[in-house]
Amino acid sequence: MNKVILLSKRPTGKPSLDNFKIITEEKPSAKDGEILLKSSFVSVDPYLRGRMSDTKSYVPPFELNKPIQSGMIAEVIASNHPDFKTGDFYLGNLDWKEYQTSNGKGLTKIENTEVSLSAYLGVLGMPGVTAYLGLTLIGSPKKGETLAVSGAAGAVGSTVGQIGKILGCRVIGFAGSDEKTELLKSKFGFDEAINYKTTKDMAKAIQEAAPDGVDVYFDNVGGEISDAVLANINKFGRVVVCGAISLYNETEVPTGPRVQPILVKNSVLMQGFIVSDYASKSPEAVKQLSEWLQEGNLTYSETVVEGFEQIPQAFIDLFEGKNTGKMVVKV
Ligand SMILES: NC(=O)c1ccc[n+]([C@@H]2O[C@H](COP(=O)([O-])OP(=O)(O)OC[C@H]3O[C@@H](n4cnc5c(N)ncnc54)[C@H](OP(=O)(O)O)[C@@H]3O)[C@@H](O)[C@H]2O)c1
Repeated sequence: MNKVILLSKRPTGKPSLDNFKIITEEKPSAKDGEILLKSSFVSVDPYLRGRMSDTKSYVPPFELNKPIQSGMIAEVIASNHPDFKTGDFYLGNLDWKEYQTSNGKGLTKIENTEVSLSAYLGVLGMPGVTAYLGLTLIGSPKKGETLAVSGAAGAVGSTVGQIGKILGCRVIGFAGSDEKTELLKSKFGFDEAINYKTTKDMAKAIQEAAPDGVDVYFDNVGGEISDAVLANINKFGRVVVCGAISLYNETEVPTGPRVQPILVKNSVLMQGFIVSDYASKSPEAVKQLSEWLQEGNLTYSETVVEGFEQIPQAFIDLFEGKNTGKMVVKV
């Protein structure tokens, strides 16, 4: 039999387990021109929350009572397709199913098996590419500048901070526990790290951590952390709006300080982006990230949850900050 996870109810506010349903169906078999895939690692990502709502966005919403999809690594266990052989691993946007068939379209072969398979969902996958392209193309950091990163201990943020260090910046990060802020400094080389959950006066803490102000802000979370960073942004600063996880579960978006006077006064550029906008540059990003990884200039953390049925809980836990680095589920 084959386990499948469906979206059974659209979340209002924070997602919970009753938004998902696990069913069993007959295990499929590969027809002519098809392969049978066995899921190995499933990526859970904050953006999936947006697809669970029935609102217009850059990707269509998930359909109710249909399998959810996300980035996954899967092994070919049977092949009736001339271009695929059993035992090979592929990356693709696949259904939350233990087994599924595919005609091979949209799958990318994992060629380099020296790196862990799950890294292709994190530092060498979509989050790593997001970090690299968002920071270099929009943030344009220069040597000696100060880079601030929110969601710093997560998949994207931990990579952004390290790239900032490679490019010669002073890097400060925000995360939600002392363990995470410690890790930012000890493992990822951040110069300063601020626990936003225990710091009362964030704007002041930023002034102390970044005495010369912030030149580039890579924003993964939005909300009050971003308000405090913008209060410290320098002339000609750049704000890379990558995500706003602090707002994804809000039913009414809270109003903060208006940003326009800050942007005008300081000639600041603020730009949102979706990594797929830069798909043509993705191979170049993966090449550079792989090189840095091999040279030992880049590292990564993963939170690996075991068991297919744990996928919904792992997804929910992203909003509680239970992950350090990339959250993946090992099937
Ligand atoms: N634009 C794009 O193309 C693109 C691509 C990938 C990701 N993103 C966005 O980038 C951001 C990070 O994604 P990721 O995959 O790297 O996730 P992640 O950072 O690995 O995981 C989510 C983290 O967000 C933090 N968080 C949760 N609720 C929060 C809140 N209310 N306020 C502040 N922090 C909160 C938690 O860390 P703490 O313990 O520190 O709170 C949690 O560990 C997300 O907003 C995501 O949507 C955008």
